Amino acid sequence: MKNIILPAALALGIAGAATAQNNFVLNASKLGAPVQSTMYGLFFEDINYAADGGLYAEMVKNRSFEFPQALMGWKTFGNVEVRTDGAPFEKNPHYVRLTSAMHPHKRTGLENEGFFGVSVLKGSNYKFSVYARNLGSNAKIRVELVNPAAMGEIHTMAFKEIEVNSKDWKKYTAELSPEENINKGLLRIFLVGDNGVDLEHISLFPAETWKNRENGLRKDLAQALADLKPGVFRFPGGCIVEGTDLNSRYQWKNSVGPVENRPINENRWHYTFPHRFYPDYYQSYGLGFFEFFQLSEDIGAEPLPVLSVGLACQFQNENADAHVAANRQALDPYIQDALDLIEFANGSTSTKWGKLRAEMGHEKPFNLKLIGIGNEQWDALYPERLKFFVEEIRKKYPNIKIVGSSGPDSEGKQFDYLWPEMKKLGADLVDEHFYRPESWFLAQGNRYDNYDRKGPKVFAGEYACHGAGKKWNHFNASLLEAAFMTNLERNADVVHMATYAPLFAHVEGWQWRPDMIWYDNTRSVKSVSYYVQQLYAKNKGTNTIQLTENGKPVAGNDGQNGLFASAVYDANDGSYIVKVANVSDSDQKVNIKFDGLKKKKVTDYSVTSLHTDKVLEDNTLDNPFNIIPKEEKGASVNGISTDLNIKAKTFYVFRFNVK
Ligand code: AHR
Repeated sequence: MKNIILPAALALGIAGAATAQNNFVLNASKLGAPVQSTMYGLFFEDINYAADGGLYAEMVKNRSFEFPQALMGWKTFGNVEVRTDGAPFEKNPHYVRLTSAMHPHKRTGLENEGFFGVSVLKGSNYKFSVYARNLGSNAKIRVELVNPAAMGEIHTMAFKEIEVNSKDWKKYTAELSPEENINKGLLRIFLVGDNGVDLEHISLFPAETWKNRENGLRKDLAQALADLKPGVFRFPGGCIVEGTDLNSRYQWKNSVGPVENRPINENRWHYTFPHRFYPDYYQSYGLGFFEFFQLSEDIGAEPLPVLSVGLACQFQNENADAHVAANRQALDPYIQDALDLIEFANGSTSTKWGKLRAEMGHEKPFNLKLIGIGNEQWDALYPERLKFFVEEIRKKYPNIKIVGSSGPDSEGKQFDYLWPEMKKLGADLVDEHFYRPESWFLAQGNRYDNYDRKGPKVFAGEYACHGAGKKWNHFNASLLEAAFMTNLERNADVVHMATYAPLFAHVEGWQWRPDMIWYDNTRSVKSVSYYVQQLYAKNKGTNTIQLTENGKPVAGNDGQNGLFASAVYDANDGSYIVKVANVSDSDQKVNIKFDGLKKKKVTDYSVTSLHTDKVLEDNTLDNPFNIIPKEEKGASVNGISTDLNIKAKTFYVFRFNVK
């Protein structure tokens, strides 16, 4: 790793150093580059049970019996048989047949364990649905929400009986309202009476979902995304895009159309880390590309789908030849997928894919402007393939911006090779990834200051501070992210998008941390990193403004006492927004002088800060508001300069009003 120079003050440790005076100059005489609306956004990948078991509100695991072990997630009792003849959904051929246990006291049925349990809340309603047919005579099933841990007389907290009155496949529904909370419960279904039934696509959703949609999303999690005010929404990954082999890559066409007929996919994160092995981790594709586009629209973010370039994950395939689309012809379906996706998003309803979008409930185009091709690819294998995508996409959709990749590392051999290749190919943006330790973040305060202004723009597509020996969520890591982001902001002319990663993690099902939002089945919590992202997104302003100390950017360099800072102008209200991160252990005195205000003066300011003395802590499900932004009215100023006391280990967003 090159370019890592620890600022001397930090290398020596500035704990206990006397409070120093820092003089910043904000140059209000000249508006800098526009800050793109896409500047701060979200990266979604189905890792850590982010989709099934997370954002996607389905509570039944393996609802269509399509996992390689058809009954994974299920327990059966009595006479239950898995069958495939005469199934209602072509791409999901398995279903179960329940026949009589042949004794009035015996039972036939099955129960689903959900994702880390079926968890329900008293006072909430749950929508059960199933496709069923009887075997010639009317039959009945009973559906129950069960709490096996209940110490009272009964385990059943809600039940409904459903009459299966047709020998043809039909959808049956029932609403369940539990009498008590169940933490780790079961969904149980059993046959009532002697007449048998066939069951398929057994589903349970909370009645309340995000915007109360069928096949909906978990409300608290979707709301958290909306509350961040994201400008761009990247999906569906990450390595998920590439697959362990080409067969397990994310295939968007399998993720659209009626949800019952979307085939499952293996989720590569189920085995990526043998020390965190999740054999039941599959993708139902219930949260698919239509839902991603719809969510992007809901939360006001530009959708950024990323597709396979015809290369399976290079980390998992040392012998690359085995899992690459070998030549131009083999790439055809991949390129077609990209073209068809653009048609799905933007095409008129007279086109094949535009028509499907309309049938799914969105007649108007989604107005897709961006597409990513390839994730963390490297070597010549990547540009050799990307080239053909660029040619074909440009031919048919010249206005779509193409995002290429600089590989998995923030610098080094592949990075140095791929950036020039991306320039040659004319990629509009280049995706950079950096999961790096504290030392890297401290040394990167000037990363983009000298980037080529004529080449592709930067998409900082995956990043997070991974503390050395502290690779989990904690305040100090988030503070360093905030410090680093001053550099993104200062260089908003070249950095057009940035997304922290990963986004979501289930506390019982994670493979990778730190993550931005954590949850169990009923609760969620925003990390400090979430609040950092939110503070930037909510205060992104409209134009960069030069902010210097002794003529230089404030980037944690020698003599800058652990301070990182940047400024933007907000044309919406005429204010100047200054972000300051003090990563040192000492309070700092800062004077900001506003140059070039002409006859105007700074009247007052408001300030939001993030701080804790417990820098290795974060928010948790049990203590979700441990470290949250604190908003204060600042002081009145009435002049062109103001003194600020910048506390140690604190991130500030100041909004200065000017008249
Ligand atoms: O965010 C987790 C993983 O990190 C992504 O899937 C991949 O792109 C990167 O290596």
